[in-house]
Amino acid sequence: MSDQKKVIVALDKPTADLALSLAKTLDPALCRVKVGKELFTSAGPVIVEALQKNGFDVFLDLKFHDIPNTVASAVRVAANLGVWMVDVHAVGGERMMAAAYDAAHSGTSRAPLLIAVTVLTSMEQSELADVGVTHPIDKQVELLATLAKKSGCDGVVCSPLEASMLNTTLPGFIKVTPGIRLAGDDASDQRRVMTPVKAVEGGADYLVIGRSVTGAPDPVATLKQISLDLQKL
Ligand code: C5P
Repeated sequence: MSDQKKVIVALDKPTADLALSLAKTLDPALCRVKVGKELFTSAGPVIVEALQKNGFDVFLDLKFHDIPNTVASAVRVAANLGVWMVDVHAVGGERMMAAAYDAAHSGTSRAPLLIAVTVLTSMEQSELADVGVTHPIDKQVELLATLAKKSGCDGVVCSPLEASMLNTTLPGFIKVTPGIRLAGDDASDQRRVMTPVKAVEGGADYLVIGRSVTGAPDPVATLKQISLDLQKL
């Protein structure tokens, strides 16, 4: 059965206090939370522990990309923190992802879900070409997702535009999709975007939502409405 708690709220805040006061307004029965680079750099592992004490599953979104030994060591620390999900960049390659998988499963606590970032949702075709990737975006996502699966990862981060394609080519592989915007929202730096309902209809398993919830006039009501809309599917 698919997980009914599909929304992961990105707590992209500069301090632990701001992140915790936002999290305390959210219901851990309705969402999970994501700690990314800004918050983790500012607040460190204690913010993960504080969120867990408040009942939240935590996605530690540090997108590790380094040599296999370094990534494995970082993933081992994340696993020992008890995070629910952790991610690496798939372009780090098979050996790096396989080492991350072994590290995720080496601890005594429950292994976190290991997710590989394919092509950032902020990137468009011309920017991929700038970094030497000439495949169409969906082919690049498929290539990296196939490699991630072969390496032992549990799933990928992709845009909602590629989720249905991956449902066909890699059924059962978890698809986490940022690039979520409510109708009428500003896409800002994101490029490959979709609404929550359309993303789940297209095959996304989890939706990472930042500014559309945290920047809304009433984040709590916005999250409730998204949850209600998704329950109707
Ligand atoms: O505010 P917004 O909804 O655009 O935030 C998206 C969040 O998802 C940010 O925290 C960003 O770092 C993260 N993310 C992303 N693209 C990925 C992986 C994570 O936008 N490929």
